[in-house]
Amino acid sequence: MKSDTLLVHAGRHPEDHHGILNPPVYRCSTVLYKTVQALEESEHHNFDRMTYGRYGTPTIFALEEAMARLEGGFRSIATSSGLSAITSAISAFVKVGDHVLIPDTVYPPTRRFCDTVLRGYGVETTYYDPEIGRAIESLFRPTTRVVMVESPGSLTFEIQDVPAIATTVHHHHGTVLIMDNTWATPLFFKPFTKGVDVSIHAATKYISGHSDIMLGMITTTEEHFLTVKNHVTHWGFCAGSEESWLGLRGLRTLSVRLRQHQENGILLANWLKHRSEVERVLHPALQDSPGHALWYRDFTGACGLFGVVLRPCSVDSVNAFLNSLELFALGQSWGGYESLILPTSKGIVRTATRWQAAGPCLRIHAGLESAEELIADLDRAFRHLRFLT
Ligand SMILES: Cc1ncc(COP(=O)(O)O)c(C=O)c1O
Repeated sequence: MKSDTLLVHAGRHPEDHHGILNPPVYRCSTVLYKTVQALEESEHHNFDRMTYGRYGTPTIFALEEAMARLEGGFRSIATSSGLSAITSAISAFVKVGDHVLIPDTVYPPTRRFCDTVLRGYGVETTYYDPEIGRAIESLFRPTTRVVMVESPGSLTFEIQDVPAIATTVHHHHGTVLIMDNTWATPLFFKPFTKGVDVSIHAATKYISGHSDIMLGMITTTEEHFLTVKNHVTHWGFCAGSEESWLGLRGLRTLSVRLRQHQENGILLANWLKHRSEVERVLHPALQDSPGHALWYRDFTGACGLFGVVLRPCSVDSVNAFLNSLELFALGQSWGGYESLILPTSKGIVRTATRWQAAGPCLRIHAGLESAEELIADLDRAFRHLRFLT
């Protein structure tokens, strides 16, 4: 089935729910057993049926089944947030003395996890240039257990050569490639055809799509499923049924929403590119963007999230610009129906590369509003900018 058809049909089992199209929200901790034998048998399972709320409910199983099919992996695991999906996926594969390779452009809270929790547990992190490709080989140690990719990178949108990195990783027995695939969604990048072993999503973003829940998803190959599922279970990082129900509901309309986010994002990016206030637009779908060739080769679309570097201007005037926007709200997240904008310069941390931009950096999420009105909003607010040169 094509992705559009899968979005509608995957994970649906009305025969298990009195014919009801969408699985209901199973609010559950306790499952009752008729006999001691049935209770004991329930302990020998591979997470494929209901035994206790923390191991999943039919609502959660439905979302997990749909995600696994869309991603093209073996099975999926729903978790409490995108970040818990990342932290539990990484930590499932490491122990004291091990080493992980993380792109310098990683989502900042992933960096904080590596620098605090992983370091505290005796796991060392090396940050690498996201554009390294096959040369990542030189950074491997005998103890390297996890290589992570995130493409495009958070805040600055560099595209990684995931197939090249995957080939290198797979020359090293016992090392896994984990991808944060949130930007592309399961529609625009198919991780398992590109050599990824474990793919994670912040389903908080486009999958749920309405900015009202926290939810993470991890999808793995068959080889790695039990390692990750057991680990998530041992930590107790389970998703809630209510959130999973909203995640599944969002998933059904992902493709129509994304078409509009993509179109609005590209319209805004092209308009911004020609503005005198703008030094650079960071959007991999633009032909003159550095990562465009790789994006064109490996992705089938772009979501509505991209970056803008302004010409050097006073902080006060950038704040006045941001404060005067009427349709773009200031907000941390993205992937919902609404347009958002965020000043990002302070959040760009680099230790393996240098981020070079003379002016302030913004992140824009193109929502589902009229692109014409979004452009008019930016146009009007740009009048507040005061340039230094
Ligand atoms: C690329 C990326 N990955 C992961 C996350 C974390 O997701 P959550 O906020 O659901 O923990 C985010 C959130 O902004 C993100 O942008």
